[in-house]
Amino acid sequence: MKILIIGSGGREHALAWKIAQSPLVAKVYGAPGNPGIASLDKGVCIPLAIDDFSGIKAFVEEKDIDLTVVGPEDPLTKGLVDYLEQGGDRAFGPSAGAAQLEGSKAFAKAFMERHHIPTAAWAEFDDAADAAAYVHEKGAPIVIKADGLAAGKGVTVAMDVDTALRAIDEAMVQHAFGSAGARVVVEEFMVGEEASILAFCDGKTVIPMASSQDHKAVFDGDKGPNTGGMGAYSPAPVVTPEIEERILKEVLQPVVRGMAEEGNPYKGILYAGLMITDQGPRVVEFNVRFGDPETQVVLPRMKTDLVPVLLACCEGRLEEENIEYHDAPCVTVVMASGGYPGAYAKGKAISGIAEAESEAGVCVFQAGTKLEEATLLTNGGRVLNVTATGGALPETIAKAYRAVDKVSFEGAHYRNDIGGKALKHMGL
Ligand code: AMP
Ligand code: GLY
Repeated sequence: MKILIIGSGGREHALAWKIAQSPLVAKVYGAPGNPGIASLDKGVCIPLAIDDFSGIKAFVEEKDIDLTVVGPEDPLTKGLVDYLEQGGDRAFGPSAGAAQLEGSKAFAKAFMERHHIPTAAWAEFDDAADAAAYVHEKGAPIVIKADGLAAGKGVTVAMDVDTALRAIDEAMVQHAFGSAGARVVVEEFMVGEEASILAFCDGKTVIPMASSQDHKAVFDGDKGPNTGGMGAYSPAPVVTPEIEERILKEVLQPVVRGMAEEGNPYKGILYAGLMITDQGPRVVEFNVRFGDPETQVVLPRMKTDLVPVLLACCEGRLEEENIEYHDAPCVTVVMASGGYPGAYAKGKAISGIAEAESEAGVCVFQAGTKLEEATLLTNGGRVLNVTATGGALPETIAKAYRAVDKVSFEGAHYRNDIGGKALKHMGL
């Protein structure tokens, strides 16, 4: 089979790496992909932008691609899967209608209310003065969210009323997120520990993957501004078997049932960002795709061939699948460009990846990189995901950081405490 992956991040490198391990697969194309994907034996990158729908379709037809897997949310919310399927091509991911679960926070909140899915109390506003009045009425802490896609930057967790009012002003008056902030959702602040559950869906059946936990803040101890994710580990001990069962029954199954009832059957990956509170799991947000960097720690633990599972999702046969994971945990540390998540320079030479990968169980997934005349350079905020597996958690964390020490580029920064919360749960 020939498989096309849309996207160019660490998530897409991890997907390509896992897909390339399938004996069913002859070639994995990345559009536009990255040098990590190109370095795989079966990997080929093609210079196609993720929003070039007609170019993607022409490529799929020219190369007889058997399956297109869409990584990022943007082309999903804009209907790339619908577009390919209308042309008779097989694509993995939700339709634009189903992708509203991520594309509009107001849609997701109203959907959860209709289907009694546990989440923070909320209200939505098209008018800044109304939103401000609501904040004054409720007080802090309180959470302000731009309704639309804002590349992970549209959420402010405000510990005081002034911060909340500033966030409303930024989104609705100064248009910091463009049209994505014309409407805001104001939410109750939830207390607990976060975890991510990614689940395969085929429109009717849902099968959760192993749990994971992201580290969103840029600095150690969850300090500093939010990023796309500075590291992750799987499994997340906060997701006990009992909590996992509740997530399935109270969140994932009701989503898939509700979306089907409302005429938007959910197919692809459903990513539930959860707060595990004293009352149980509550939804922070939905994403309609594989998480980044969660994918980089979940896929290395997956024993089962991913490709038949993706096909089963596309063809409504997920019920037949039995998906197994290795017991050994997996940890990934994101190495980011100096300044990220603020402004950062690009084009710094990267060295040491081969040395890092010389230790068994280490894999460096590439994200913001580019090759220039055989030199690997930084080309984005999150540059590399240094990933380790194959031992108990403390050793795996140590292995990941040993690998990080071997890799360098000017200005590189990373968190030193990835996996620390899991160790705490284990009493270590
Ligand atoms: P989101 O983009 O919706 O995932 O929000 C980004 C981050 O803000 C989440 O990962 C949480 O850490 C935090 N957050 C969002 N909503 C809430 C909430 N209602 N209560 C507490 N923290 C929240
Ligand atoms: N790790 C968070 C996300 O993928 O949105």
